[in-house]
Amino acid sequence: MAWNPAQYKAKDYSSLKGLNGISDEQVAVHLTLYNGYVTRSNKLNETLASMINDNKAGSFEYNELKRRAGWEVNGVLLHEYYFDNLTPNGGKGDTSKFAEAVSKQFGSFDTWKADMLGTAKMPGVGWAVTYWDPTRKQFDNYWIDRHDVGHPAGCKPVLVLDLWEHAWSVYLKPTERAKYLEDFFANVNWSAVDGRL
Ligand SMILES: [Fe+2]
Repeated sequence: MAWNPAQYKAKDYSSLKGLNGISDEQVAVHLTLYNGYVTRSNKLNETLASMINDNKAGSFEYNELKRRAGWEVNGVLLHEYYFDNLTPNGGKGDTSKFAEAVSKQFGSFDTWKADMLGTAKMPGVGWAVTYWDPTRKQFDNYWIDRHDVGHPAGCKPVLVLDLWEHAWSVYLKPTERAKYLEDFFANVNWSAVDGRL
């Protein structure tokens, strides 16, 4: 029987209209980019499956597409973590379950945030992610340069912040990352973050 991989389906983020600071046009452009990752991930998986069905494993074409899979698929997954942890009704987060949990580890929510912001302000484009490490039972803030590189294996993304310039370049200048960070933290969906614990 031929292998027929399951498809990714773009999620509906129409609830993200009216974010604080981040314009609707900015979100719409970003969602178009996200949809591109969904389309390419499906095409890539279909192509790989048809190569396996045609006994083409090990060909240069198969190998190069396989190398590409982490990039395209993490482009879908990271964007979904990011959009899922946004809401027009965000709060400070200091009374969330997450705040309580990071306070135990970092001493305070503000100390966790200082490390997350320090990570997010590093030069370059990529992602800042707070992961939960189920083995050490602790949170770690990571800088992820590329979608497919640098993720700690077995750890769970809890808060995902997109730091590619396309995340703010529609409504801010490339030099205004600090304003975008302020806007991001004004729109965090802390109940979604709590739901990942
Ligand atoms: Fe993005």
